Amino acid sequence: MTASAPPPVRIGVVGAGFMGRQHIDFVRASAGAALAAIADPAVTLADAECPTYPSTARMLDAEQLDAVIIANPNALHVETAVECLEAGLAVLLEKPVAVSYAQSRRLVDAVERLNGRLLVGHHRRHHPAVARARAAIGGGELGQIVAVSALWSARKEPEYFTDTPWHSEPGAGVTLINAVHDLDLLRHLCGEVAEVQAMQSSHARGLEVEDTISLSLRFESGVLGSLLASDAGVSPWGWDQATEETPAFPFLPDEVAYRVVGTRAALSIPNLARYGYDPSVPADWHSPLSRTYLPVAPRGSFPAQLDHFLDVARGTTAPLVSADDASRTLALVEAAALAARTGRTVDVRRFRTGARADDDESPDHPAAAGPDDGA
Ligand SMILES: NC(=O)c1ccc[n+]([C@@H]2O[C@H](COP(=O)([O-])OP(=O)(O)OC[C@H]3O[C@@H](n4cnc5c(N)ncnc54)[C@H](O)[C@@H]3O)[C@@H](O)[C@H]2O)c1
Repeated sequence: MTASAPPPVRIGVVGAGFMGRQHIDFVRASAGAALAAIADPAVTLADAECPTYPSTARMLDAEQLDAVIIANPNALHVETAVECLEAGLAVLLEKPVAVSYAQSRRLVDAVERLNGRLLVGHHRRHHPAVARARAAIGGGELGQIVAVSALWSARKEPEYFTDTPWHSEPGAGVTLINAVHDLDLLRHLCGEVAEVQAMQSSHARGLEVEDTISLSLRFESGVLGSLLASDAGVSPWGWDQATEETPAFPFLPDEVAYRVVGTRAALSIPNLARYGYDPSVPADWHSPLSRTYLPVAPRGSFPAQLDHFLDVARGTTAPLVSADDASRTLALVEAAALAARTGRTVDVRRFRTGARADDDESPDHPAAAGPDDGA
């Protein structure tokens, strides 16, 4: 560190389970951050090598912190984040931002009311391949975007559900735990979703929460998309297997999570393989396709996310994923659930504006258009 480097941001971690421990490792590895404390009722001082507290309130009382990383169970996200924002701390909040869209709006309001600094942990947005893909899509390198397809499937071990009861309770499920990342990234790459149709199934695991979903999406830009996700099916296809983000997953180089097709070229992500015609041949489906890889400097999303969070905490940059942005992803998750329950097409904008409260439980929700509704 140079003499002019700012002092390390003092970070408390709330929830030191599977994800919280990874955050702890990233904080420890960062020159710009210092791990100051941990709040988790299940973690003891001996485990942690730093002060530990049984609750967020006790940690906030005892420690002078600059920021917190919240990785506790989803149902606690909003109350914990508001508690820390009210204490004047910057917050990195794990996804999903809340367990319901209505609840997430309370956090959005709190961020606004308190002028809070809050980043939501949709870490994939920080991956260099995502930034490059977004530039290719937005900059017209693929021509006009026609469609996008996303796939995430991996078979979780039975203990994932038996050892951690909240993993099989409402507020979990493959959509909120895993596909929420894909939906967030699809929004980041292709813009807002206008309409969603969905099917979901609990057939493979027989749990209360869904294990498999299939979504059809129409984006406001006119792009069509699909997302298939399952936590019951073995596959190499998905962000976690296609990147070296976490050692907890096998890494299969050159596997693909997203495919984007445009009128001039196609792009797979995260390997950034671009398929297009040579300029010397006619641009039609009978011409040979060439494959080139868009170059990017390799960097993991989590260290990049932490560096960005340190800037958010210092007040030098706005969060790449705000509470409002993540709330919109959550609205899309709920709109998809409504579409699955009703078998109808759901208008996502109407869902957002009209379904802040309890309406979404009704099969006659105004955002769910039946075949005769002309919507
Ligand atoms: N970004 C990602 O890729 C990613 C991956 C996995 C999990 N997550 C998210 O991280 C969060 C945690 O997931 P996990 O898999 O680590 O779960 P986990 O069950 O392994 O860990 C949760 C931890 O929170 C602790 N906890 C419970 N109540 C608490 C309280 N009141 N105060 C403080 N700590 C409390 C538990 O003791 C546990 O150690 C979830 O929101 C999840 O969606 C994100």
